[in-house]
Amino acid sequence: MAMHLYHLSSKLLEDTVGTMNDNLTSVVLAASVITLTLGYVSKLLLQQAPGNEPKHPPYIPSSIPFLGHAIAFGKSPIEFLEHAYDKYGPVFSFTMVGKTFTYLLGSEAATLLFNSKNEDLNAEDVYSRLTTPVFGKGVAYDVPNPLFLEQKKMLKTGLNIARFKDHVKVIEAETVEYFERWGDSGERNLFEALSELIILTASSCLHGREIRSMLNEHVAQLYADLDGGFSHEAWLLPGWLPLPSFRKRDKAHREIKNIFFKVIQKRRKSGETVDDILQTLIDATYKDGRPLNDSEIAGMLIGLLLAGQHTSSTTSAWMGFFLSRDKALQERCYAEQKAVCGENLPPLDYDQLKDLSLLERCLKETLRLRPPIMTMMRMARSPQTAAGYTIPAGHQVCVSPTVNHRLHDTWVERMEFDPERYLNDNPAAGEKFAYVPFGAGRHRCIGENFAYVQIKTIWSTLLRMYDFDLVDGYFPTINYTTMIHTPHNPVIRYKRRKQ
Ligand code: HEM
Repeated sequence: MAMHLYHLSSKLLEDTVGTMNDNLTSVVLAASVITLTLGYVSKLLLQQAPGNEPKHPPYIPSSIPFLGHAIAFGKSPIEFLEHAYDKYGPVFSFTMVGKTFTYLLGSEAATLLFNSKNEDLNAEDVYSRLTTPVFGKGVAYDVPNPLFLEQKKMLKTGLNIARFKDHVKVIEAETVEYFERWGDSGERNLFEALSELIILTASSCLHGREIRSMLNEHVAQLYADLDGGFSHEAWLLPGWLPLPSFRKRDKAHREIKNIFFKVIQKRRKSGETVDDILQTLIDATYKDGRPLNDSEIAGMLIGLLLAGQHTSSTTSAWMGFFLSRDKALQERCYAEQKAVCGENLPPLDYDQLKDLSLLERCLKETLRLRPPIMTMMRMARSPQTAAGYTIPAGHQVCVSPTVNHRLHDTWVERMEFDPERYLNDNPAAGEKFAYVPFGAGRHRCIGENFAYVQIKTIWSTLLRMYDFDLVDGYFPTINYTTMIHTPHNPVIRYKRRKQ
């Protein structure tokens, strides 16, 4: 309470100073009066407080009831958060649609979220209403976190280097086949193409050949309907509402699960042992010796596909636009293909992929400036302390990779796309959570290595096929209306390279 009054008074001071900036004496006088009044009132309030009230994070006031800052945040979330950071510091709260959010910006403040126990800052409380209708019961945020951690370990076992070696071949072949339809030159929607391609590559690599062979237009539509479950309405509105998108999501979930059940049962019956992730899941057991049932396996397969779908397709598309904007860099990446793999550009292999270090730095830099997950969120189940403030239970506590990745206190030339920054003296390297596109701590991503293999293989193949350009110099603006910040009007110009 006393803290809120302090921030209201600071604003009053700022506003007063703003209108009097041509008269220094008046400013000093006004500042003194306001500061003295503030000190007096704060003292009175503290005296009246029954004990020493906890110091809550600064609260950004809003005159709009219930909606609060939803409109300003929805229009330009990064600008909103950066502005709040400059004004209130690394920890602050505000209300949107009846919920109070507390952001922890910068590496130090983010420590609370990444090091916390799930019982204190809880992920299920905020994510489950979106993910459980899509992935199904018994997996991910529908189960207690220790069980989900066991499931993550099983998935991680399945994402190993021996498999990646096969994945590179599969992804290269899928990419060449998909882009055949682009012909020799033209202008096309890059994001749409990469989204379609990544469903195919992820299905081949993460689901196995039986499920990939069933991936036709109908199944692709089912994935799209299921994916429609990750929407703002699913986030905000009660799940029992008879919305068409909810009904489509639920129908798609049932149909996809039935397809997967048939494949799992066939594999179990055949006694055949295939070296893929489906087999890893069929053979896996929890610590107590219990194997996964078919519903858990199907749910984990859905989760694998969707967790990597938007994240990887958005990242790949942005990377294409960054490389098209900087033609010299694009040429250096193409030259690297020849230098590492051979002048005649033979088929890619995993060991060479690892040596494509410039391409890797371009991907790393894309993930810095356009991390697909803009905010990680947890529910404070009990009061939490950050930067000397007490965050009350019930707040949604958030860390934003996007803001951390461009904080002016941390990054040099923060808005420049500069893959070489990782070779130079990079001050951000000294801050543990300055760069967190894949999160950190117990909820950290298990798909990072696969995502690097997938995106580097796709871009190696595309750089070998085409020379890319922006269309009339247009670099896509950011579409903030989607939960993952996609490129707006993502059309690219391409021309086949002469080998
Ligand atoms: C560019 C690609 C990707 C990015 C940027 C990304 C980003 C993230 C982030 C930021 C988190 C942490 C979420 C949180 O703390 O709330 C996360 C978690 C996770 N990701 Fe990814 N991801 C990517 C690809 C993938 C892929 C390909 C898979 C699966 C193969 C995957 C599976 C997961 C899983 C299972 C979690 C754990 C969630 C938890 O424990 O709460 N991700 N990812």
